[in-house]
Amino acid sequence: MRITSVFLLLLIFSLALPAMAIPNQETEAQREARMKWWTEARFGMFIHWGLYALPARHEWVKQYEAITEEDYQQYFDHFNPDLYNPKEWARLAKAAGMKYFVVTTKHHEGFCLWDSKYGDYKATKTPYGKDLIKPMVEAFRAEGLRVGFYHSLIDWHHPEYPVDKKHPMFNNLEFRKTAANRDVRKYAEYLHNQVRELLTEYGPIDCLFMDFSFPGENGKGRNDWQSEKLLKMIRELQPQIIVDDRLDLLDVPGGWDYRTPEQFMPQEWLKVDGKRVPWETCQTFSGSWGYHRDEATWKSVRQLVVMLVEVVSKGGNLLLNVGPTARGTFDERAKERLEGIGAWMEGHSRSIYGCTQAPDEFKTPQNCLLTYNPTAKRLYVHVLEWPMGALFLDGFAGHVAYAQLLNDASEVKFIDQSRAGEIGFFTEERKGEKGNAIILRLPVPPPAVTVPVVELFLK
Ligand code: GLC
Repeated sequence: MRITSVFLLLLIFSLALPAMAIPNQETEAQREARMKWWTEARFGMFIHWGLYALPARHEWVKQYEAITEEDYQQYFDHFNPDLYNPKEWARLAKAAGMKYFVVTTKHHEGFCLWDSKYGDYKATKTPYGKDLIKPMVEAFRAEGLRVGFYHSLIDWHHPEYPVDKKHPMFNNLEFRKTAANRDVRKYAEYLHNQVRELLTEYGPIDCLFMDFSFPGENGKGRNDWQSEKLLKMIRELQPQIIVDDRLDLLDVPGGWDYRTPEQFMPQEWLKVDGKRVPWETCQTFSGSWGYHRDEATWKSVRQLVVMLVEVVSKGGNLLLNVGPTARGTFDERAKERLEGIGAWMEGHSRSIYGCTQAPDEFKTPQNCLLTYNPTAKRLYVHVLEWPMGALFLDGFAGHVAYAQLLNDASEVKFIDQSRAGEIGFFTEERKGEKGNAIILRLPVPPPAVTVPVVELFLK
């Protein structure tokens, strides 16, 4: 009898215990192994798609313009992306060199792109009438890309979502009175149910981008979302999944897998407590995530390629966003960028995939960015401004066995600094200097590619 009750107690205890914490028995090496495909991939596609594609003036339009639920309804009633062809999207992503994609299953507006059984504010109830997520997941998987879901913690549609400072109706006191009794626990239940649904009905999901927390006065954070419980469920349902850092669990062990600097370029590899951590920056082609017809600040192909290289040179990933139109297409500006990046990637992806920041002893040459493949033991010199005839590489002498242009595998001759004086590369003062640099002898015209790369085979 006693044994039975002890056993029962133990059983109850062991069932209750994990509910209190996120399982985090992973060692550093295990975490690295879990994230290996992701750190090697380096380049993914973000997709922001929802009702906001119709107003076509930013995915925050409902909040920016304080649009009421009634007025926003017209976008739901007219949602009909008749040209939607996810196979074409997947083809474009793959051709651009992207290895994974992350799609907004629900953005802040609350609209669900899949056929959720927990509500009616979803694609299947619009004139379009079909689940958008399933064919997308299938199409991208078929092209060999990994699958990621972005899911908004914030919800401007749900009737139990308490009005906070980011809510479209925050300044509408009348509305706030009517919403005074909203219960965030009921909303959290809806949130958890939907995340469970997404993580059980679409096969293996490789990454999850929960967005976002803003704790403090009139904000929301881990207690509102019940983040620890949510993350525990996520990790149980999909143990391999890679999760972002916006659940407000930065101080919780196992509470995030990577940092997410958004719309800016970090100065250096991101560190937490002095230690380099995995990171991914998400960036737009222009200023908006959702399709924006009139936005004009589009980045050029070259800017985007340089951005990708710079991210990898600092040990990070780039998640580059497309905001498809309400017809279900990528607009010409997006296609042109994707194709341009793809043309460069075709000849140069070796300097991106599996690459990371170069070891410290190799100083970044002037007007260049370095990436490094530790497995292949190759260094990649991305030459942003083509110099006249020669490129000086400080710290490289004795390390390089062979050098070539990456675009055509044509040999690049080099000399080391000890002999540099002979051919007049150095000023009189430095002539006899024994350093550890090498000098690459480059052709005068640069190769006709967006960013030329010299591939160095290390000894
Ligand atoms: C922000 C914005 C959002 C966008 C996201 C991408 O948090 O709220 O519109 O989806 O960043 O990272």
